[in-house]
Amino acid sequence: MRRQFIKNIKGLIQAGEDLPTVLRGAQMSQLAMIENAYLALEDNEVIAYGPMNEWPGITDWREVEVIDASNCYVLPAFIDSHTHTVFAASREEEFVDRIHGLSYEEIAAKGGGILNSAKKLNEMSEEALYDAAFERIQKIIEAGTGALEIKSGYGLSVEGELKMLRVIQKLKQTSPIQIKATFLGAHAIPTDFKANRVAYIDLLINDILPVIAEENLADYIDVFCERNYFTTAEMEQILDAGAKYGLKPKVHVNQFSVLGGVPAAIAKGAVSVDHLEELDQNDLAALAKSNCVATLLPGCSHFLSIPFGAANRLIDAGAVVALASDFNPGSSPSYDLMHVLSLACIKMKMTPEAAINALTINAAAAVELQDTHGKIALGRKSPLILTKELPSLAYLAYAYTEKHIQRIFI
Ligand code: NIG
Ligand code: FE
Repeated sequence: MRRQFIKNIKGLIQAGEDLPTVLRGAQMSQLAMIENAYLALEDNEVIAYGPMNEWPGITDWREVEVIDASNCYVLPAFIDSHTHTVFAASREEEFVDRIHGLSYEEIAAKGGGILNSAKKLNEMSEEALYDAAFERIQKIIEAGTGALEIKSGYGLSVEGELKMLRVIQKLKQTSPIQIKATFLGAHAIPTDFKANRVAYIDLLINDILPVIAEENLADYIDVFCERNYFTTAEMEQILDAGAKYGLKPKVHVNQFSVLGGVPAAIAKGAVSVDHLEELDQNDLAALAKSNCVATLLPGCSHFLSIPFGAANRLIDAGAVVALASDFNPGSSPSYDLMHVLSLACIKMKMTPEAAINALTINAAAAVELQDTHGKIALGRKSPLILTKELPSLAYLAYAYTEKHIQRIFI
């Protein structure tokens, strides 16, 4: 048995037995924190924590590692509830095209974008895809992520989509962090189906979904509901088909345009609606009275130079707001949630407290991991971050290129 005793912690964050499972409104600006705290772990399981002056002391010193965390913080590892971590190749040529003035949508219209990734993915073996993704996950963990959602959506063919989902399934079995899988066959209309989009949607519903159900390859279903991609009615049709197999929706909506996808997805029981760079009054009203998590992706806004999500409007309206990386080769080639934290504070004017809540408690809700992740509580085993020495918690978001993590407990 491995026992660890972390003492003199400057702030033990999100620790408590009765913290809410989702945070809204004014709750977002308050962060649960025990100052000058201790934390005791037994094989990574939290067995005791509290203020140092209540520390019962160590009676049995066998196999105990004592860690002095003076001036350091301990917090639950972040949850990345929206990523495209399985992909074949980077796309820096499109990045250079954008520097020369093309937009993301213009690049997609000339066969770049998602179709570019799909072409390369279909040429790559399942083994090679798995190896590349496994290596990425090691780096993702080192960057402070303790649970990960991964989408398909670069296959856009029966074989390609199933290959991606089988890779994700294998990653679930071999990775040290918890992974959730999302079927995103409706990420783009593949070139061969441009003249017959109905046939592509039929293929998703009739040829892929039954196999996903049979092999238990996905937890969620996603659709890129957007102009030039999938309409709201098509999204509804695909979500209904997924629901027959027990797949709950987590969808891409409102990245470039408002098509009514937000209220429509909520009506279909969406666990989360993601992107929301664009947002109208109807969307806001629907999110305010729902448990659906509004997931903002500031890394994508930053990288594509598109608007940032209106985090504070959503928070003030009472919506459940989370943050994620959207890690993918086209619109957000970074999995670094510390950077997302900084962007949320710098560009969206979230407070550091709100941004940490959005990356822990609310992000756990966005992948239905609230019973195991996002908080530090007795009996829990999910990964933890020990920071380096920091002058304050706000410094975590402020010093946005510094490496803040001293150690991960996993
Ligand atoms: O979330 N917007 C749709 N999907 C991805 C981008 C995919 C890509 O460009 O490869 C996103 O930003
Ligand atoms: Fe995405």
